[in-house]
Amino acid sequence: MKEKNITTMRSVASGFSYVMDLVSDEVQDHHKKVAYLAYRLAEEMKLPPHACRLSLIGGLMHDIGGVLAEDKTSLWDLEANAGRLAKAGASIARLIPLDAPIAEIIQYSQPSGEKEPAESAEVFASAKEWLDRHAKMPEFIRKARFSWMIGQIIQLADAATLLFEGESSALGQAKKVTARLEELASCRHFHPWVMDAFRRLSVEESVWLDLLYEPDAFLEFIPDNEYLTLEKMSMFSEFASVIIDFRSPFTAMHSAGVSASAVELARLMGMSEDECVMMKIAGNLHDIGKLKVPKEILEKPGKLTDEEYDIIKEHPYFTWKILKHIEGMEQITEWAAFHHEKLNGQGYPFRLKGEHIHLGARIMAVADIFSAITEDRPYRKGMDRERALAVLRGDAEKGAISSGIVELLAENYEQVNKAREQASKAAGRRYRESLEKKNIG
Ligand SMILES: [Fe+2]
Ligand SMILES: [Fe+2]
Repeated sequence: MKEKNITTMRSVASGFSYVMDLVSDEVQDHHKKVAYLAYRLAEEMKLPPHACRLSLIGGLMHDIGGVLAEDKTSLWDLEANAGRLAKAGASIARLIPLDAPIAEIIQYSQPSGEKEPAESAEVFASAKEWLDRHAKMPEFIRKARFSWMIGQIIQLADAATLLFEGESSALGQAKKVTARLEELASCRHFHPWVMDAFRRLSVEESVWLDLLYEPDAFLEFIPDNEYLTLEKMSMFSEFASVIIDFRSPFTAMHSAGVSASAVELARLMGMSEDECVMMKIAGNLHDIGKLKVPKEILEKPGKLTDEEYDIIKEHPYFTWKILKHIEGMEQITEWAAFHHEKLNGQGYPFRLKGEHIHLGARIMAVADIFSAITEDRPYRKGMDRERALAVLRGDAEKGAISSGIVELLAENYEQVNKAREQASKAAGRRYRESLEKKNIG
């Protein structure tokens, strides 16, 4: 049943673009616009369809390293941080087994002085000649060169989009942006073929009008009949959980632990195999709204101020806001986003009560507290069985969480805790490995 289609690629891309805007929200819809322009440029250069597609995905993801940035604004200090941003982004993309060379594309998507692999493209007279020559090359060489070229495309799309964020009319701005890009191109900022494609494309008014007034235009380049199975969505959610958790050593294993405990509890409650996979996805994504919370608040060692706590409390709302963009995920969205709702109506942010909180969300609430108090954090050890159960039973007595689920956990403590520990350990290992690789201090 895991082969069952749950949603579409287009829908996931839409949700993901929203995530990217949370990660680096300096410029409204920035990643959507870069994705759009990168695709149009690749098409204009007559790159094959898969390379156009990778330009779009790369455009959406190019700033993903920003999740590891200390503060969001430093992202835009490109001179100082472009190389680090690209490295961090590539190290995140490398964690997930993707067929596509996304990590390499991200690596090349920032002006960090990466040289073109092997001989210079400039020995060829045109992009066409370059492409024809590459058609005969072994797969791995082709991939490397394409990744590099796509990186060049994203660099230009990124620069154009950043320059384009003003208030005047789209066409008025277009002239200024083009003039500035010509200046940069004269200092060899951009690859000449990409710049040529841009010159041809930039005379088309609708490109600029789309950029300003139609931020979701990029979605039209993704066919709407490309479905994602439950299994694929589960893999995708694992990738998202890495992005959520790896922002901070304080949360490095949290989503993995919640997800694993929620699946065990769901199985014990008699949920079907498909529902257990849905639970896994919901667990991986439950804190995705935390991407909106500044890292310094996530990592604050002492007590939070009221204002800081108010910011943290927004996160389940943003989990809901991101996931509701994804068609077919309605059930999963509720299970994930309602994890801070309480049966007695004292939870947040929707103040739901009793029967309005579905079984999946009740399980998630228990799994979330259970994982949070039992996982080790840099400043404290996790609680042992006795203390953890005392906390959970206390919450159940207050009418906040389901006593039935808490008792089910108590009866099967070893089993649930083992699943949580194993998932947390695996996530911890991945976290340490990525720290070694990302090398961004
Ligand atoms: Fe949460
Ligand atoms: Fe959580």
